[in-house]
Amino acid sequence: MSGDKRVILSGMRPTGRLHLGHLEGALKNYLQMQAEGADCYFMVADIHALSTEYKNPAAISENSRELLLDWLAVGLDPDRATLFVQSEVAEHSELFVILGMLTPLAWTERCPTYKEQQQELADRDLATYGFLGYPVLQAADILLYRATQVPVGQDQLPHVEMTREIARRFNHLYGETLPEPQSVLTASPKVPGLDGRKMSKSYGNAVYLSDGKDALEKKIKQMYTDPQKVHAHTPGKPDQCVVLALYKIYASGQAEAVEKECRGGQRGCMTCKRALLPIVDAILAPIRDQREAWAGQPGRLEQIIQAGNKRAQARARETMQAVHAAMGWEALAPEGRRP
Ligand code: TRP
Ligand code: SF4
Repeated sequence: MSGDKRVILSGMRPTGRLHLGHLEGALKNYLQMQAEGADCYFMVADIHALSTEYKNPAAISENSRELLLDWLAVGLDPDRATLFVQSEVAEHSELFVILGMLTPLAWTERCPTYKEQQQELADRDLATYGFLGYPVLQAADILLYRATQVPVGQDQLPHVEMTREIARRFNHLYGETLPEPQSVLTASPKVPGLDGRKMSKSYGNAVYLSDGKDALEKKIKQMYTDPQKVHAHTPGKPDQCVVLALYKIYASGQAEAVEKECRGGQRGCMTCKRALLPIVDAILAPIRDQREAWAGQPGRLEQIIQAGNKRAQARARETMQAVHAAMGWEALAPEGRRP
């Protein structure tokens, strides 16, 4: 690796296939950091998934495989980045417990995502001890790798902030041990879902990275446009139009002309949508092909994860040694703690 000193840790919960919002909101940054030669750790956050899916844990493994396939399909490269599974590196649970001891209850209770998620996932009982600790587990994930940068979507900023607070508290109590990480947002604008709300699996408004061309065509037909624009010659007001938003993201050179023609009554929504299909499909087609190629090699997938878990574990163990040493909390038997 180059002289790049940055250590990157990020993760995603395996709760289903990834969509364009993930690609623009986080994965683009993963790819850039990987390309720049930073020391990258990308984690399948399956314990975090358990915090909301604890009634159906069997689905987590299958979803973890799907997540890994999506990652490889977009170009995360096991030769340049460490891809691993959270639950398979036991140190996450260990550091989570330690950090839980020193994290004030009020920090977790006032975390904005705590109440938001409980409301959003009202069909599940999330009044649990583990769910309250969600950001503490995330802090453990990040601090375990002594990450300097955490590429995340906007919604995760409070968790990275709490991670910084927890690191500061640990360092204050036991001495400078854990670096405070920075969050890194992508430059790209938010991708709206088909209905104009934030793109999200739970809203049923997502374009998945694995969608075929036919599925994509159907979804583009459903996209929210200016509801007043009934004819091509009706002057449009496309400020909320999802189709225009996608032109702006994926065909920025054309977006201005599209908007002008729309406002001037020189363009109809049908034509506009038809022309968007090849533009978005050009993004998805190579991802779809790669996904298929990787899906045909389950043995290789297993090897990748095994190697990734091992590399992650080596770094995690170094950190745990530093953590125990800082705390002055030594094992009584030489084999008492893993080497
Ligand atoms: N909470 C993150 C999400 O829902 C996933 C996650 C778990 C994560 N651990 C992390 C992200 C550590 C960044 C760093 O998207
Ligand atoms: Fe949107 Fe295009 Fe219809 Fe205008 S013409 S409202 S930009 S889909």
